[in-house]
Amino acid sequence: MTAATDPVKLMKQQVGKAAADLVKSSSIVGLGTGSTTAYAIQYIGERLKSGEIKDIVGVPTSFQAEVLAKEYGIPLTTLDAIDHIDIAIDGADEVDPQKNLIKGGGAAHTREKVVDYLADQFIVVVDAGKLVDRLGSVFAVPVEVIPMAITPVMRTVAQLGGKPELRMGVKKAGPVITDQGNMVIDVKFDSIDDPVNLEKTLNNIPGVLENGIFVNCTDLVLIGEVKDGLPVVRKI
Ligand code: A5P
Repeated sequence: MTAATDPVKLMKQQVGKAAADLVKSSSIVGLGTGSTTAYAIQYIGERLKSGEIKDIVGVPTSFQAEVLAKEYGIPLTTLDAIDHIDIAIDGADEVDPQKNLIKGGGAAHTREKVVDYLADQFIVVVDAGKLVDRLGSVFAVPVEVIPMAITPVMRTVAQLGGKPELRMGVKKAGPVITDQGNMVIDVKFDSIDDPVNLEKTLNNIPGVLENGIFVNCTDLVLIGEVKDGLPVVRKI
């Protein structure tokens, strides 16, 4: 792996490597989505190739994870073929002191939640910029919605005090379409005092498939930081 020079990339690379180092031979590994996890997938592939670990199978959380796993030689399986996941590695957009998360910056939070919640050990990999005192401080909550329900769901989340925005594509006219063929609204709340209840409330709105609040599920957070110009990995 060639070391990145940009400090944020360097943090992501180090933390991805640290997570990949936790993967043991013969494990079933949940492969998360995003730019940080991409380094973990790359490094798991390199460890497999060098013979340092063997007999790994991955469960991808998105089309992106699937493509990367294939590129780095990680055999894949599906949830129909296995009865457990040993370890899942995934990124996050915000992490609070209780290790609750906001995810879904890559519109993959629905599959991520399925895979990450099934894992015996769920490891979150982030750079230091993702740590917040309270969820929702910076990031909006991504909510995956079936297309025909977009208007009523936006109305309902506004009544709950959120500011919903339909996520639009980049280099694609119109909205982002998820791997499941749905749309995403990003809902900004002034302050999320009770993430446990907000997660349930949002998921109870008819037409909502899943939202990006992940509570009481994270076992370990690996945080990439740069200290005195050198990348270090801190754990919470
Ligand atoms: C994908 O939908 C997200 O949940 C990502 O895991 C999250 O956005 C973190 O991505 P980065 O590692 O690219 O910041």
